[in-house]
Amino acid sequence: MRLHWLVFLLFPTLLLSQNGLIADKAMVVSAREEASQIGVAILKKGGNAFDAMIATQLALAVAYPYAGNISGGGFLVFRKANGETGTLDFREKAPLKATKNMYLDKNGNVIPNLSTDSALSVGVPGSVAAIFEVHRKYGSLPLKDLFQPAIDLAKRGIVVTEKEKAKLDEYKADIVKISGKKTLYNKTFNVGDTIKYLALANTLEQIVKQGEKEFYSGKTAKKLVEFIQSKGGIISKKDLKQYKTVWRKPITFQYKDLNVFSMAPPSSGGITLGQIMKMIEPYPLNNYGHNTTQYIQLITEAERRAYADRNYFLGDPDFVKIPQQKLLNDDYLKQRMASFSFDKPTPSSEISHGDTQIVESDETTHFSIVDSFGNAVAVTTTLNGAYGSKIYCDELGFFLNNQMDDFVSKPGIPNYYGLLGEEANSIAPQKRMLSSMTPTIVERNGKLLMLLGSPGGSTIITSVLQTILNVYEFKMGMQEAVNQHRFHHQYLPDEIMLEPNKFSKEVINQLTDKGYHTNEKFAPVIGKIDAILVLPNGKLEAGADGRGDDKAVGF
Ligand code: DON
Repeated sequence: MRLHWLVFLLFPTLLLSQNGLIADKAMVVSAREEASQIGVAILKKGGNAFDAMIATQLALAVAYPYAGNISGGGFLVFRKANGETGTLDFREKAPLKATKNMYLDKNGNVIPNLSTDSALSVGVPGSVAAIFEVHRKYGSLPLKDLFQPAIDLAKRGIVVTEKEKAKLDEYKADIVKISGKKTLYNKTFNVGDTIKYLALANTLEQIVKQGEKEFYSGKTAKKLVEFIQSKGGIISKKDLKQYKTVWRKPITFQYKDLNVFSMAPPSSGGITLGQIMKMIEPYPLNNYGHNTTQYIQLITEAERRAYADRNYFLGDPDFVKIPQQKLLNDDYLKQRMASFSFDKPTPSSEISHGDTQIVESDETTHFSIVDSFGNAVAVTTTLNGAYGSKIYCDELGFFLNNQMDDFVSKPGIPNYYGLLGEEANSIAPQKRMLSSMTPTIVERNGKLLMLLGSPGGSTIITSVLQTILNVYEFKMGMQEAVNQHRFHHQYLPDEIMLEPNKFSKEVINQLTDKGYHTNEKFAPVIGKIDAILVLPNGKLEAGADGRGDDKAVGF
């Protein structure tokens, strides 16, 4: 008791921040307060979670250019109040002129930065198509009302926060190098400055006036294609015209008495999360304790095996056959864990992908919404890298994505997130690149329990995993669960990545003594979760990740 009070006196904000915002009926949690406010204003007007999704996605495109976008892609997972679930895939596609070896030189070596920092890194964007598709199917308010707040916000401008300034400073030289000296971003911004996005406001006005075709075949499309091609890219008018979103069945699995709904391929999120959760299900996590050596070992070993399968089997389901049922089968996963022991690590070199027959084949952003009707929408959307390819189209007012880097440029050569891959994720025209984005909805006893997701490239899946376990196994509240330190293993490199200076020396020493390689330098933060938990009394608790400027708003 005395210790508790001492901690409270010394770290009042730390203790207070363990409680997330509580709301009676409805909530939006996103990377920026402006976007959460806009989403909630739509909900207050009587709009549903799908309407709020559209307004929030657009608001993030304005307020959070680091990852929010109309020129990237993403995934939406929903659960309606009546229990119906589904997902929308608005992932980018490879252009028609893309080829398997487009990032290799004549000797077959990967040309540095071509798949990340060049106009050839741009995938055909899906976000605008998603906005219109979601509205056609589930929207209830006029589109004009959903666009207007973002347009107004762009004209009013965004106030630079400390964290935003740090990112703008960090990437300024890269942006200017590729976008030219005349770019809006060739300035040093200070905390408190207001950045107005008049070109983006104009683009959004044109899109809402002319409809979806404005972005995919109208004047905006023409300008976009000309701009990309002037920078050496290969996206054509035909690419934009042919782009379509896809409604897909969610990946659904059970973990104890939870039903989990997550994103299906072309995201690896759902299957990999499912594999890890099913591999650890038989073990008494609670007895090991939160973030103890045994806990970290077990999760590491499950992650190692699941990521090995991810890298080998997963890709765009419209192009490759994925043994989805087998990968989530209890016996298969039990057999995958048969070599696990608490005595020592299983080296990744001894793991490879599972023996299953296969017939041939803090730059992303997540937001969670619950409306007062009980509908839940979880969206993760991205430009891939920080400010995407860093190519800013000043005329249209947005950055271009560099999503093509999520394909395998060459087997055995890691991508930006250190992920490897094989044939299943090789480049082909019109194919979607494999993702790790994991927007996820959790049900208990047939009722909505939680929704969450995260940026963080390859670490997204493990961040979502650990947050669900924090709530379910360790009985934490939503904010407390989001605040916890996180670790990550992705098969290769064969090391446990830990948020720096957060884990006890004792635990790290024990892991090292057992033969694990640990790395506290890989990432200053692992994931950035925005989540909502339905409390036993029916109220909603937010988890807005303090690793960013993330904010919950509700009523
Ligand atoms: O789709 C993916 O998995 C990646 N493009 C996500 C990138 C990301 O999360 C960046 N955030 N730090």
